[in-house]
Amino acid sequence: RLKIATIGGGSSYTPELFEGFIKRKDELDIKEIWLVDIEEGKEKLEIVGAMAKRMIKAANLDWEVHLTMDRRAALKDADFVTTQFRVGLLDARIKDETIPLKYGMMGQETNGAGGMFKALRTIPVIKSIIDDMKELCPNAWLVNFTNPSGMVTEAAIKHFGWTRTIGLCNVPIVHQNIANAFEGLEPFSEELYFKFAGLNHFHWHRVWNKQGQEITDKIIDQQYGKDIAPEDMPEGVKNIPQMPFDYDLVKHEGLLPCMYHRYYYLTQTMLDLELEEYKENNTRAQLVKATEDRLFELYKDPNLDYKPKELSERGGTFYSDAACEVIASIVNDKRKVMVVSTQNKGAIADLPYDSIAEVSSYITSHGAEPIVWGSFKSAQRGMLQIMKAMEECTIEAAITGNYETLKQAFTINPLIESGEKADMVMNELLVAHKKHLPQF
Ligand code: NAD
Ligand code: G6P
Ligand code: MN
Ligand code: MN
Repeated sequence: RLKIATIGGGSSYTPELFEGFIKRKDELDIKEIWLVDIEEGKEKLEIVGAMAKRMIKAANLDWEVHLTMDRRAALKDADFVTTQFRVGLLDARIKDETIPLKYGMMGQETNGAGGMFKALRTIPVIKSIIDDMKELCPNAWLVNFTNPSGMVTEAAIKHFGWTRTIGLCNVPIVHQNIANAFEGLEPFSEELYFKFAGLNHFHWHRVWNKQGQEITDKIIDQQYGKDIAPEDMPEGVKNIPQMPFDYDLVKHEGLLPCMYHRYYYLTQTMLDLELEEYKENNTRAQLVKATEDRLFELYKDPNLDYKPKELSERGGTFYSDAACEVIASIVNDKRKVMVVSTQNKGAIADLPYDSIAEVSSYITSHGAEPIVWGSFKSAQRGMLQIMKAMEECTIEAAITGNYETLKQAFTINPLIESGEKADMVMNELLVAHKKHLPQF
């Protein structure tokens, strides 16, 4: 029977994760789930952990749920380690998002300067988790959800040697369900065939119907057509404003962009929106903090034993349909096609063999087998290669603490104005996050 350890168990997403495990109770023979947190998150862990126990009881399952601050006890003999932690909690995210905005640059949890600093804080912790795993659960799978998911996964596999790592994101699932809806299909229908390729929060995709016709162009028209008002666009994720893409540009590319591409294709528009929010103390991190407070008030209710609908205010809807399904697919060798961050292995000809890409893959008992995408055209290839180089420099800086390497990463990130202003943002973030950046 399975032992699962979840690092960052005090996250408000934990009921989502438990719902996903419960839904798959016939596929997953779970013995125990260990929720791990740290002193700062202890209160959250106790509240949401009690709620998780009620969910298991309501589902009539005999699974043990352990709440602990002792990571080593949780990791001992684990089969799966899932990660959903945030170093510095939401207060650190507020800094990630507001400090760049102060200098007129995008403030976003996984993009631009903020996302890079999230990587700098997270990568040393992932290293220490892997060091423990090498000793305590050498055969376990690491299912990483912690953002920036692509960079964290690349650090885990390429630098720390944990090849049994799979990186996840909910966004591809949201895109698949949008296409399903346009085709009159139920969410999670397996009728359409999707191919995704790129990086986490920076991928494109193509779609085919059951008859073998490519319907990418048709979905582009339905989703991003010229006359579609933002309020009529299909719902994406809660954290990204529904700005219409430049239809002609997308049409010319002939590929469906990822929701996060708005930050790169519509930079000024997105920045203006962020600056409005910043003026009113309404950045996403600040909003999420208020949502989190409300959620934890709900979780305190001793009669609540299911995931409340209010959790859908968070951007991570369908989180468990990624995390729990990957686990079920590994355990049962389902060979299901899912979009994951994994070693490229030549699937995208434009990226190095050992780079981590986010790509449609078969999920087997031995891990992810990426499906060949081929080469991108010049426009996407250029962006992709710059972004990968930016990720590589960021990861290197996270490991070495080298200031100039970080400056290189800042210089090539398309969302950062290079030069004097970049130095100011970087220096201010380094000081603000000092406590969580032991490498610098
Ligand atoms: P959060 O701020 O609630 O943090 C979750 C928990 O992590 C907290 O209880 C905190 O105490 C704990 N934590 C912090 N440092 C820790 C450490 N060293 N060891 C163990 N626990 C630690 O965060 P959240 O908003 O619930 O998000 C959790 C994470 O999941 C974030 O990294 C977020 O970016 C990520 N996320 C990813 C996706 C995706 O698509 N990949 C979607 C949603 C959220
Ligand atoms: C999205 C992304 C996640 C991101 C999250 C933010 O869907 O895929 O990577 O972390 O939602 O949601 P939040 O509610 O925290 O702003
Ligand atoms: Mn994501
Ligand atoms: Mn915003």
